[in-house]
Parts: sequence; C-alpha cells; structure tokens
Amino acid sequence: MIMTVTVTFKKSRSDKIRLAVFTMLEGENLGPAAAALDKENGGIISGALAQSPKFKARNGEILELFLPGRGGATLRVMLLGLGRVEKLDSLRAETAGGRLFPALSKIGAAEASLVVEETKSLKDIDLGLLAASLANGVCLRSYSFERYKSKKPALKASKKETPDPVVDFDKIEVVCSQSTPAKKTFERLDCVTRGVFTARDLVNTPPNDLYPESFAKFIKEELRPLGVEVEILDEKKMQKMGMGAILAVGMGSVRPPRMVIMRWPGAEVPKTGKKNPAGPLAFVGKGVTFDTGGISLKPGAGMEEMKMDMGGAAAVVGLMKSLALRQSPACVVGVVGLAENMPSGNAYRPADILQSYAGKTIEVLNTDAEGRLVLADCLTYVQKTYAPRFVIDLATLTGAIMVALGHEYCGTFANDEALWGQLAAASAATGEKLWRMPLDEAWRKDMESPVADVQNLAKSGRLAGCCTAAGFLEHFIEEGLVWAHMDIAGTAWRKSDQPTVPKFGSGFGVRVLDRLVSDFYEQ
Ligand code: BES
Ligand code: MN
Ligand code: ZN
Repeated sequence: MIMTVTVTFKKSRSDKIRLAVFTMLEGENLGPAAAALDKENGGIISGALAQSPKFKARNGEILELFLPGRGGATLRVMLLGLGRVEKLDSLRAETAGGRLFPALSKIGAAEASLVVEETKSLKDIDLGLLAASLANGVCLRSYSFERYKSKKPALKASKKETPDPVVDFDKIEVVCSQSTPAKKTFERLDCVTRGVFTARDLVNTPPNDLYPESFAKFIKEELRPLGVEVEILDEKKMQKMGMGAILAVGMGSVRPPRMVIMRWPGAEVPKTGKKNPAGPLAFVGKGVTFDTGGISLKPGAGMEEMKMDMGGAAAVVGLMKSLALRQSPACVVGVVGLAENMPSGNAYRPADILQSYAGKTIEVLNTDAEGRLVLADCLTYVQKTYAPRFVIDLATLTGAIMVALGHEYCGTFANDEALWGQLAAASAATGEKLWRMPLDEAWRKDMESPVADVQNLAKSGRLAGCCTAAGFLEHFIEEGLVWAHMDIAGTAWRKSDQPTVPKFGSGFGVRVLDRLVSDFYEQ
C-alpha cells in the first residue's frame, strides 16, 4: 500500500552506502564534498562534467557517473541540480527531491546518501529547511498504491547462487551540517505528507471497496486513535434531521449515505478554559464514492475516473490526519458528505423537488449535478452546529473547471478578500496552485427555480458551469459567513507523474489547507 522512504539526517556520509548524491547549483562549481571526492579520484567527477556540456545543474537535473571506490566497491555518484541560487527556495528544493526519486528507484538499490553541499552562495539560505524540503520531495514522490497488486511470486528455488539483488529503494540519509534542525523541520513536513498519502489512498481505492459505510469506518479507525473525535450520521439520523438533499443523491444505491464529522479540538480549549470562544475553522468535502450520473447517466467512456469524486472528502480526512499528527493547536472541524450516485428503481429523478436541511427546496433538473446537493446539506450542518470562523469546501464539482483551468490550478471562489489572501499565501508556500474565480449575483439568480427555491442546473446552460455551481452553493451560505469553495475536479486526479505527485490520486488540498490552518492559527 504505502511504500515510502525512511529518512535519516546525518552530519557525514556513511561509507557503506554505495550510492551518493551531491547537490549542485546552476552556474557554480562542484560543492566542497564532491570536489574533495573528485580530487581523491583523480578528477573523474570534473572530467564527467566537462564531457557533459548539456548538464547545467538546472533544478532537478541529474548527472550520473561511477567512481572506482575504496577496496574495489564501485561508488555510484549523482549530481543533483538545484538550479540558480537566486531562485532556490523550499518549493524548488522539494521539486528537485521529487525528480530525484525516480532516478534512485530505477536503479534497484535500497539506499542512497544525499549530500547537501554547503557552498558560500548558500549563506542566506536556511540549510535545515533546504535539506528537509529535499527529503520531503523524495517522500512525496515515493508514494505508490500497490494494495491491489498480487504479491510477486516468490523466486523459484532457482539455480542462481546469489539471490536477485533488485530491491525497492526505501532509505535515504541526508547529509548536512544542520542535521538536527533539518530533522525537526522534516518531521513536521512529514506529518503533512502522511495526510497527503491517506488522501491519495482514499482516492485510489476502487468504489467496490470504498463506499459511504466503509469510508466512514475508515475515518473512524484512522483518526480516532490520533485523538480526532469522529461522529457518523447514518441514513436514519439524516432522515430525522431532514437532510433531504444528500439522502436523495444516495437513494439509488444499495449502499446508504453517511455524513461524518471530525473534530480536532486543538489546544485552545484547555488554554482559555472556554469552549472554542472564537469558533472552529471548518472544512467540508464532497465524498461521492462513485458518480455514474444517476438517472442522468454519464457516458460509459471514462466513467471509471469517477471513483475520484470523493477527492474533496479525502482531502478533508488527510488534513485532519496531518493536524492530529503534528499536534496542531488549531481547533478544526471537518465534515464530509458520503454518497454513491447510482441509477436504479429507487434513484432520485430529474423533476424531483427535495427538501434540504437548510429548509430550502431544490428542484432537480439533472441527477449528475449531485455534488452541490451533498455539499448543501453539509454546509448547512456545519453552520447550524458550529459557529465557524470560516468554512472552506472542497469538491470535484464540475467538468467546467477543467475546461477553464486544466489540471494545474484549482479554481477557488471566495466571498472574503482576507480569506482569499490567506489562501493565496498558503498556495504560494506549498505549491498547490489556486486561481481565484468570480462569484456573482447573476449566477446566484441563475440557480433560482420557477417551482422551488433553487434548482440544481443553471438556466443559462453550460457556460461558466463552475461559476453557476458556486452560485448554487452560495444559496446555502448564511449572510456574513466567510466562505471559500475549491473546485478540485481538475487537480484531485492526475494522469501523468508530476515531480512530487505520482499519477492518479494526488491528495490535492491537504498541503495548502494544512498551511492555511498553520498560518491562520499558530502565530
Ligand atoms: N463529479 C462531476 C464533475 C467532474 C467531472 C469531476 C470530471 C471530475 C472530472 C460532477 O458531479 C458532475 O457530473 N458535474 C456536471 C454538472 C452538470 C450536470 C451541471 C458536469 O460538470 O458536467
Ligand atoms: Mn455528477
Ligand atoms: Zn460528481
């Protein structure tokens, strides 16, 4: 399942590791450690550089060579480019680490040593942060989802005298004078990475195994031991409470819906003695465990991708995990709406009019616009039950956001300048890219129904579908509440590898929101 790398921080390189990586800056010479090794070996490294004019030590660029090594044990050497020093920051270090991982893992060696070269030009750079970020980049990229791969057959009692030497790469020692602060910084980053991995696992798990009930059980089993309070509303409870929107979405499936509430009390409660005087920060996630479209059935081609329609819920769970692991002092509540959108004799229909938990009636015009229905009841729940300082929802809500922004940026709608500013800062710090999208009264009005209070499809048709979806959600946001909506339809799932994100479930949202909480609350 989670195959990941163990990281240690050291002040000097262990000789027994026969794979050594040295960082190098673009436009500069070899760092001191590599230069010393070069000298010991009669200039082989500088010779290799001279013969590789295309290698410029740009960020993430790698040059590989071999040294004879002491006692005949060949030392495999890689030079890892970090790019120009003026541009170097923790994000670029992370990217370089992410690019390093595939180069390491394809070799078949179990471990490597990564030497962070300390050149004069790095004097203004936090070396501990640099080393920690490089390691975190390696880890983020090292994720792989192998739960459904049958075990490799044990090697037959072969005629080979020596066992197959190919192993999975799983250990890295990071060498740096600032090894103690580096380790401390890394440990915090790694808590977030664990949350990202949980979100990726959830998105990657197929819908025959991940459905509302099993998802809720997973949350309970994963988060309760970490000190997160978990409350599960089953369909009976939701019926009693009048949550007609999420219930309608789940009606076509034999697997009933769930709403799960996760509370991380943080440290504020005991410190002040009062119960959350300022209210928690709230995160809401769309958790449609599979979206067939329902009676408004989607085309068959590509439907399998709709297992990722719970990416918002996965990000909220991953966020709660990272907050708990790093013992965040913030008081945070997460709410996820879990339902499977299926066509059946019991499914909800276009033309149905639903009674939402907020009391507003919703005319259904397309059962494939189900995410907003699930979110409506979750948003209402979080507002009725808590007095949140802000609410941020995440949802794989519309194909339209992918038309607008592709896979690179998450479209973010915010009704508050300050919250947008904080989101933008967290985005710049973590590299999870957000792009602000507009909210407008015209789109809100476009979602009003002639026969009910609102309808789930825009009267104006497909144009600006992501904006009209946000306009629908606004009907469920109380006056004065600070709110943002992140449409992660394009970013929750990647079809190709990125430097720190292997393909498929990306875990998008965990890192930027962890950072937002940290910046908002912990200074
Ligand atoms: N889950 C989909 C949106 C989606 C599309 C996510 C592609 C990821 C990739 C959502 O429930 C949906 O079906 N949206 C419709 C809304 C329309 C019927 C108003 C859409 O975007 O086409
Ligand atoms: Mn849909
Ligand atoms: Zn959906």
